[in-house]
Amino acid sequence: MLQTALQFSHTLLQEVVQQGDQVIDATIGNGYDTRFLAELVGETGHVYGYDVQEQARQATIDRLGDLIDRTTLHLSGHQTIDATIPVDLPIQAAIFNLGYLPKSNKQIITLPETTQIAMEAILERLTAGGRMVIVIYYGHDGGEKEKHQVLHYCKTLPQEQFSVLSYQFINQRGNPPILICVEKK
Ligand SMILES: C[S@@+](CC[C@H](N)C(=O)[O-])C[C@H]1O[C@@H](n2cnc3c(N)ncnc32)[C@H](O)[C@@H]1O
Repeated sequence: MLQTALQFSHTLLQEVVQQGDQVIDATIGNGYDTRFLAELVGETGHVYGYDVQEQARQATIDRLGDLIDRTTLHLSGHQTIDATIPVDLPIQAAIFNLGYLPKSNKQIITLPETTQIAMEAILERLTAGGRMVIVIYYGHDGGEKEKHQVLHYCKTLPQEQFSVLSYQFINQRGNPPILICVEKK
């Protein structure tokens, strides 16, 4: 069976992340991706995580358990990546799940401007063969605007430097998530 966008995001990460790598979870939320990445990078790797909500950081800490030592969890937006990760630190992979924290305040959402700042900072640090995966949810207020900005930014990345993939179930009712994967050549 075809993988959901969420399942496929993990497949795309798994294919490139190895033990010892440094990776970014740009929207930690309930910590599912953070834990997945912490398992992939092993004891010698590191996951840098970002979220603006203490509730999300706490949920992620609880989900990580002993794996917490492999992570640095910032209670700040992903727009602070530039200020918190040196530009010469090689990043093998990054993931965004855009939108709001499920079952929580739907007013606290990722925003087009700050998402773009974060994408730019990640691409500056991404290694050759590294991947930045973005799962775009856009059914909520403000979601369409962010979807357009992210798609525009990714579509206009130079093809000499990046391969950009889009994955979506186009016959699904509602607002099926769009997965974008940017791979550095
Ligand atoms: C869809 S949820 C993420 C789900 C998460 N990946 C998981 O595995 O549970 C989106 C998250 O983005 C967070 N967020 C909103 N603005 C943000 C920003 N500027 N930087 C980082 N996270 C932000 C929200 O607080 C929310 O927790």
